Amino acid sequence: MTGNRFHLGWFTTFGVDEWNDPFASGGEPWDGKFYVEMAKALERACFDYIMFEDTLMLPEAWGGTTEAYLKNAIMVPKHDPLPLAALISAATQHLGVVTTMSTLAYPPFLLARLAATMDHISGGRFGWNIVTSGEDTAAQNFGLEKLPPRELRYDMADEYMQLVGQLFGSWDPDAIVMDRETDTYADFSKVRPIHFKGQYFSSRGPLNTAPMPQGRPAYVQAGGSPKGRAFAAKYADSIIATANGIEGMKAYRDDVRARAAAIGRNPDEIKILFLAAPILADTVEEARARTDRAVNSPEFVERALALFGSFTDIDFSIYDLDKPLPEKLVTNGEQGSLDKFQQLGSGKTLRQLAIDGGMSGSIELIGTSNTVAERMGEVMDAVGGDGFLITAPFHRINRRYINEVTEGLVPALQRRGLVRTAYTQPTLRTTLKEF
Ligand SMILES: Cc1cc2nc3c(=O)[nH]c(=O)nc-3n(C[C@H](O)[C@H](O)[C@H](O)COP(=O)(O)O)c2cc1C
Repeated sequence: MTGNRFHLGWFTTFGVDEWNDPFASGGEPWDGKFYVEMAKALERACFDYIMFEDTLMLPEAWGGTTEAYLKNAIMVPKHDPLPLAALISAATQHLGVVTTMSTLAYPPFLLARLAATMDHISGGRFGWNIVTSGEDTAAQNFGLEKLPPRELRYDMADEYMQLVGQLFGSWDPDAIVMDRETDTYADFSKVRPIHFKGQYFSSRGPLNTAPMPQGRPAYVQAGGSPKGRAFAAKYADSIIATANGIEGMKAYRDDVRARAAAIGRNPDEIKILFLAAPILADTVEEARARTDRAVNSPEFVERALALFGSFTDIDFSIYDLDKPLPEKLVTNGEQGSLDKFQQLGSGKTLRQLAIDGGMSGSIELIGTSNTVAERMGEVMDAVGGDGFLITAPFHRINRRYINEVTEGLVPALQRRGLVRTAYTQPTLRTTLKEF
């Protein structure tokens, strides 16, 4: 038991639920209601935020074809999470709502305007997961031949952040005066163009939206490479991270916090949430049996590798499943996740790596609500903070799992004083900073 509370987020996608499972919504969640209900459950459990990942292409990494992705509904179909975030905002009062938008895809002015609109609709609960995209196929959907190299993508993203930051600041917070005596809605002297001219982006400004409740959206990011970590340390209010075990989690957190301190930021302003996919049942044995059944099912390994290949733009179908990978793999996509997956030096076969990686978490959490809650507390004590980003094991979301976490695991965490039992703050950014 610890006196230190930690934060909870949930990582998901506006995609197909576990469509052929009895506890799912039948594979057609496109009206958004399945995810709205899920968000309400997360709010009852006092999560800081629900976060929707996003990518902008149909994967064909596995075997160079779309077959595995379409057949198994892996990362496709996938709908735009921003309109869904508006529905969720309307149905909740406290939960943060974070969506992913790529600096490769959105002109900065458009993104800033959408973020401002969403921050108003949500009453100050909107967060932006800042990504630079990681696939050539996504770049090709936006008229580029190839994805720019990672270093360049982060240089561009850095300039992008300067630009949108200026747009968010182009209205003084008190620019809307609504003075009936002078019949004035907004004071024009408090709204200024930015005339931003950078190497990659330019924009005149000002933004044509009202000043946002949070001033800017909460920034969420997932840098893994040195440049990505530096970016996250500079901008993020919350980092979503994946790492190997307590040691990897601690090393990642210490590194990002040191980078933040080195540029004069208080590291406590950054809440690092580690991906975790608890597998829960009434007994530890049952939870283990559940896990074994899932990972030993005939399609598990191929699905896990096809999914992981789509993040990393790597075709794992060319490697022997029963041998270790022949070489260290590199990618212009998610290198940090790939490094974690490869477990270099472990000598594990690709099949075992797929099983480990397919579990989706930074740390193994298999057991009852009580044993897993206890373990999560121990892990956070050892890592130093700041919380977990829950995701469905094997990326298969259904209502039973949402219930097991929100009605079983979270109350067990709350009884131990490990997570919040009520919201006390008005915005996502202040919720993240509450402790
Ligand atoms: C938990 C998590 C969620 C992520 N979500 C997305 C996403 O929605 N879209 C995307 O293009 N990249 C996503 N990424 C990739 C990151 O933006 C980033 O590229 C990756 O962590 C590798 O770091 P690097 O860019 O510094 O190499 C995610 C990564 C992690 C760990």
